[in-house]
Amino acid sequence: MFRSSNSDKCNITIFVDDKAVTARAGDLIATILLNHGIAAVYPTLDGVARGPYCLMGVCFDCLIRCEDGRIEQACQIYAEDGMKIYLPLTDQSKKDVYE
Ligand code: FES
Repeated sequence: MFRSSNSDKCNITIFVDDKAVTARAGDLIATILLNHGIAAVYPTLDGVARGPYCLMGVCFDCLIRCEDGRIEQACQIYAEDGMKIYLPLTDQSKKDVYE
């Protein structure tokens, strides 16, 4: 279903949980995560890992935390050079998603 894009065209760096990840300017955050093998981004209340699924803003399975603390759908925001995002699944800020 999902096919990785050509990584030769990467021209920006974003930071996922403070780890540098290369991407193309204008790519959706969700596609960047999937391109880098990050398929699980946040836990449900009962601890089940969820990740980008529909890629069109319907499933809400791609919730991430932005640097300023906003919770956003990764499939609805575009990458910009130097952007920092955090995955609620790995940074233990699960309650950020539900508050
Ligand atoms: S992947 Fe479904 S809302 Fe983002």
